[in-house]
Amino acid sequence: MIREILKFPHPILKTPTKKVDVIDDAVRGIIRDMFETMYHAEGVGLAANQIGIDLRIMVIDTTQKKESPPVKLALINPEMIEKEGSIKYKEGCLSFPGLVVEVERYSKVKVKALDEYGEEKIYTFEGFPAIVFQHEMDHLEGITFLDRVNGLKRRLALEKYSKLQKQR
Ligand code: NI
Repeated sequence: MIREILKFPHPILKTPTKKVDVIDDAVRGIIRDMFETMYHAEGVGLAANQIGIDLRIMVIDTTQKKESPPVKLALINPEMIEKEGSIKYKEGCLSFPGLVVEVERYSKVKVKALDEYGEEKIYTFEGFPAIVFQHEMDHLEGITFLDRVNGLKRRLALEKYSKLQKQR
């Protein structure tokens, strides 16, 4: 089922999400809806709180990005256990339609998470998938990409966003 994607400044986007205790069919149903909603919106990543669900779940699909190794995953209770390097990229966000903000991230991350069957997995993401992972990880912590830029850059982005909102 395609769910509504909540837009900034919805308060749930600023609230850290809760750990998933039991991975059951309800959780797998949420994951299915998250993939469907993400594809419908032509996104490459989605965090559960973006569809109003207060749980530490994200989905990623970077297979359309040909220059990086494809990643298509649901991550439950993800943790970043190692990080290195730095990369800048102009990011978009489904909760900020039309806005692009350049953000600096780690270029390589090692991640521990549960899969949709409750099995613990370790992944290494590099380049674009690493960027998407960190963007979604921020969502799960109640942080948006706007919180990653300061001063003038942030003010201009906010102005641009309120203009875009008025056009809608
Ligand atoms: Ni986002």
